Amino acid sequence: MKPATLAELQNALRHLVTAVANAKLYSLDHPQIKRLCEAARRCFDNLLKGRRVLSLLIVEGEILFEDFPVPPGLHTQKFARLMEQHRINRIIISPGVENDELRELIMFLVATDNHQPTCSHLRFETLATHETSQSIMPVHASLPDDNDALQALKIDSHGRLAEIFQGFGRQKTIKMTGLAEIVSGFINAFHRETPSLLALMPLRSMDEYTFTHGLNVCLLNLAQAMHLGIQGVLLHDIGIAALLHDIGKLHIPMEILDKPGKLDEREWAIMKEHPIAGARRLLDCPGVPQLAIVTAFEHHLRYDLSGYPGVSGNWRQHLCSQMTTIADTYDALRTKRPYKPAKPAEQCAAILQELAGRELHPQLTANFLCLLEQVTVAP
Ligand SMILES: [Fe+2]
Ligand SMILES: [Fe+2]
Repeated sequence: MKPATLAELQNALRHLVTAVANAKLYSLDHPQIKRLCEAARRCFDNLLKGRRVLSLLIVEGEILFEDFPVPPGLHTQKFARLMEQHRINRIIISPGVENDELRELIMFLVATDNHQPTCSHLRFETLATHETSQSIMPVHASLPDDNDALQALKIDSHGRLAEIFQGFGRQKTIKMTGLAEIVSGFINAFHRETPSLLALMPLRSMDEYTFTHGLNVCLLNLAQAMHLGIQGVLLHDIGIAALLHDIGKLHIPMEILDKPGKLDEREWAIMKEHPIAGARRLLDCPGVPQLAIVTAFEHHLRYDLSGYPGVSGNWRQHLCSQMTTIADTYDALRTKRPYKPAKPAEQCAAILQELAGRELHPQLTANFLCLLEQVTVAP
């Protein structure tokens, strides 16, 4: 994002947040509030030059504008919090937005109910809430079989990913073009057949786990991100990050990775090294997106910051890492192990719901469960 664009956006948000603070003290007709709404409207007018709309996505206290996170700041974070308090995860502003519409927005943000204003130049999207549905299981049980196009794509990608990972072991570099092609193939498939393709995740055993798991987490991450409205470079990087999240496991001895029973203390300690090992290795690879390094490091952190590796209490886990944790947990639950059968889909959904707010981000989990529910109603 150009510095001037960022400054304009930050100014707009600053005016709006200040107007909200004023609206708690004065009436909405107060000249100060009018002035602030007008100033915000001027910023939006400038930002809308050459753009069809302005879309601000709010996820986990962060604002994304044109696929880039807006650097956190006092007003940006306050605005994100206000929107989240009103259950808004996207605001779309169209050219011609008026001062009065922004005043309506301020009124909405001050109010305690969630009654959204109806304005022709402001549109809101609310993150759907989810309640675990009893109908999930029977429909999951009749998912399409292996003949689907995505299944073929997955099989093809499996071989390519295996090759890329083997190359990584030998040459210490990652063939980024190969990874980019896999992610683009999945994104294109999703554009053609969203989102029932999520269903195409067969239960499989632990053997060949590494590559299938990476591909599954990639598909689940892309579906989550697309459902949140993320597009472009960020979407692509989220897919790459998922493919690489467990790359640190390449250093773990096979007898630990493939152990049929539970790990002992020493083995578990080795297993817990893979996020740091993976992030370190990726740091040395040219062309790897920074997001992949962050995700490799953070994907076993939990929402309450327990998990591993240990981090400070004010750590802010990236939303991509949090989506990966959800996808990772779901895929692990759906995996058949020698000592543990795969859990049925409805039970997995119930477990995720249970973990939301403690181990998993509640809003992102709601988004994920919403996707699962869509699978159940897909033809
Ligand atoms: Fe992992
Ligand atoms: Fe994983």
